[in-house]
Amino acid sequence: MILLGVNIDHCATLRQARYRESGRACGGNVEPDPVTLAVEAERAGADGITVHLREDRRHIQERDVWRLRETIATRLNLEMACTPAMTEFALKLKPDSVCLVPENRREVTTEGGLDVVGSEDRVRAVVEAMRSGGIATSLFISPDEPQIELSALLKSPWIELHTGAYAEAYDSSQRQAQFDRLRRGAALAHQLGLVVNAGHGINYVNIAEVRTVPHLHELNIGHSIMARALFTGIEEAVRELKARMN
Ligand code: PXP
Repeated sequence: MILLGVNIDHCATLRQARYRESGRACGGNVEPDPVTLAVEAERAGADGITVHLREDRRHIQERDVWRLRETIATRLNLEMACTPAMTEFALKLKPDSVCLVPENRREVTTEGGLDVVGSEDRVRAVVEAMRSGGIATSLFISPDEPQIELSALLKSPWIELHTGAYAEAYDSSQRQAQFDRLRRGAALAHQLGLVVNAGHGINYVNIAEVRTVPHLHELNIGHSIMARALFTGIEEAVRELKARMN
C-alpha cells in the first residue's frame, strides 16, 4: 500500500494572495486556512501532511507550521532548505520528518532536485543534526545514480525521487525514458536500503503509471489535489486519489 502525503502549500498561496497578516489583524476572516484543510485531508485518508516553509515565506508561515504540529493526527513532513536557520527551526518544531529541497527565489514551486553531490558537507550537517534530534531526513533528489548513492552514504533514511522530469515529458518517447529512469532509481535506492518516496507533478492521470514504480513508500502530492479540491472539496479529492493509488 503506497502512502499519501498531502502537500497543502497552495492553500496558503491562495490565502496569502489576499491576507498577509494573522487572523486578528484582518478582522478574523482569513481564508482559506491550511490547518483546517489538513484536518479534512486527514479525515479523508491522507497519511501525512507536507508543508514547505520557504525562506521567502511566500505561502506557508511559521505560525501555520506550529499550529499544524499541535493539530494534525498523522505525520508532519517539513520541506526546507539546507540552511542553519531552517535546521534550528526544525529542531525546535520536531516534525516527524524533514525533506531537504533546493530553493531558488524565482521559482514558482520547487523545480530541480537537491544536488547532494555538489553540497555534500551542508547536507551531511543537516542529516546528522536531524538524526541527533530524532527527526528522519528525506532528500529530494533526481533519480540519478550519484545522488542516490551519496544519499545512502550520508545515511539519510529516506529519499524523495523528483518526478518532475517524468511528469513534464509530454512526448511519449521522452516520457518512457524518464519513467525508466525513475524505475531504475527506485530499484537502486531500495537496494541501498533507502526508503523511496516520490513527488512533484503527480496527478490523477499519471498516477496510474507512477504507482507501478517499484518500492514506493509514499507519494507527496500538492498541486493536483488542490486543483481538484476546488471542484469537489478536499475530502473527495483525497479519497479519489487514494483510490487511484492503490
Ligand atoms: N515534493 C516536493 C519535495 C515538493 O517540493 C513539492 C512541491 O513542489 C511536491 C512534492 C509536490 O509537487 P506538486 O505540487 O507538483 O504535486
